[in-house]
Amino acid sequence: MQIRGGNGITRFIFPGPPRPRSSSSSDDDDDDPSPHEGDATSYGVIYVNELARRAMVDEKKPRFPAGSVIVREKLAQEADAAPQVLVVMVKREQGFNLKAKDWEFLTIDGQLSKVEHREKTGSCRDCHNSQKDRDFVFRSYLTEEMRGKQK
Ligand code: HEC
Repeated sequence: MQIRGGNGITRFIFPGPPRPRSSSSSDDDDDDPSPHEGDATSYGVIYVNELARRAMVDEKKPRFPAGSVIVREKLAQEADAAPQVLVVMVKREQGFNLKAKDWEFLTIDGQLSKVEHREKTGSCRDCHNSQKDRDFVFRSYLTEEMRGKQK
């Protein structure tokens, strides 16, 4: 998969969500519930293509059109050139995925060399299902100002 910059791409960057300190003494990260939620110091960068922009930014109850692509990079540092991992949601044609409003969920390695995982159901969908009234998209990184203008 190729990710093009430039025209029509909208980008958001925000600090990753703080992660509560584990109560256990183990430092094991294996049970991290989300592939992209990081520790308190990681950064998220979200990109949306032109087709997805309106739903992402302007719509109170978004309905992303087929062809929408949302990419979330996880960066260890704000200025890092290479992400640690990318997660992607692609809105496919109507009927593609009845369980998640036609979204496909992908995980891509930080070198952009391979799609590590793609799914219609599973852990991505299960967690994003809490946003099913908003087309499975969290948008928690939008600013208050952006939200205030949504229709
Ligand atoms: C445990 C819950 C959880 C799981 C599992 C999860 N996500 Fe997310 N995802 C979130 C939250 C919360 C956000 C918004 C905050 C953020 O990005 O840090 C988000 C944001 C995103 C975004 C940006 C669009 C949006 O919803 O705002 C994409 C794309 C995404 N996730 C893809 C995936 C993919 C692909 C998977 C599976 C490989 C996945 N997610 C698994 C919770 C989850």
